[in-house]
Amino acid sequence: MVVYSAPAKIYLFGEHAVVYGKHAVAVAVDLRTRVELFERSDSSMYHTAADTRYIKEAVKVFSAIKDVKGVEIDVKSDIPIGAGLGSSAAVTVATLGALNDEFDGDLNKTKIANLAFKVEKSVQGVASPTDTFVSTVGGIVLVPDLIRILDTIEPAIVIGDTRTVGSTKELVEAVGELRSREPEVVDLIFDAIDTISTLGYSHLKLGDYARVGEFMNINHGLLDALGVGSLKLSTLVDVARSNGALGAKITGAGGGGCIVTICERDTVEAVCDAIKAHGGDAIVVDVANAGLRREE
Ligand code: PMV
Repeated sequence: MVVYSAPAKIYLFGEHAVVYGKHAVAVAVDLRTRVELFERSDSSMYHTAADTRYIKEAVKVFSAIKDVKGVEIDVKSDIPIGAGLGSSAAVTVATLGALNDEFDGDLNKTKIANLAFKVEKSVQGVASPTDTFVSTVGGIVLVPDLIRILDTIEPAIVIGDTRTVGSTKELVEAVGELRSREPEVVDLIFDAIDTISTLGYSHLKLGDYARVGEFMNINHGLLDALGVGSLKLSTLVDVARSNGALGAKITGAGGGGCIVTICERDTVEAVCDAIKAHGGDAIVVDVANAGLRREE
């Protein structure tokens, strides 16, 4: 038996535009999915509240590398499902990590991240490699370069969950349709987001968090312009900012799901209270330095 875990992620900048090859900055955060895996000699069994399609596809993809007769998999997760925090990537990565160990797959992290991306694409139809890569390696990552650029940031990261769910597939398709109708306008928005991600990355490296926050705010406006906002998301963004957050924006596909904010430590409580007072769940997280890891 082996146990592996992998973290959730947030986007500081760049979701949606990243699907079109633009830059994004994503951060692994310390909400984790834990996969316990036992080898079985016959069929497979899965115990999880999550979508089993990702686990089944991960077993199928791994079976092309090593013969797997059967497995029993137990999943425990602190990542809200369908909320834009990469819960499906985390369960996919942790499952592949556990399979690799139990069946001596000899896969390094790069290969696991690549396989996990293949699984996400085949289940979802559309995906960028962001979630699976970040969940595998941890830290703060620049996309599409797929390099880990930093280990941590000073401000606290506060997530506001609207407790509503958005479909990544449908939202990516809706943005694609908007782009087909209005290519000149939408490409300008994507280019602006690309600039935000690359300059935002420099501000992060310099520790200029006031500007990082300002860029998150601009990025939020552009996501709204792409039509992936909602009243609940905008409300949480507004109240987080008016209670002292340095920056606040949608994270992930939007439509529902979560916002992400960065806050000086002394404003965390006020920002959390404001999110809760407006119907959201507030989750304070740190950067997860460890991506995929074996648990004892
Ligand atoms: O909502 P999430 O966590 O699946 O993030 C989606 C981010 C998109 O850029 C909209 C799509 C993608 O695969 O990168």
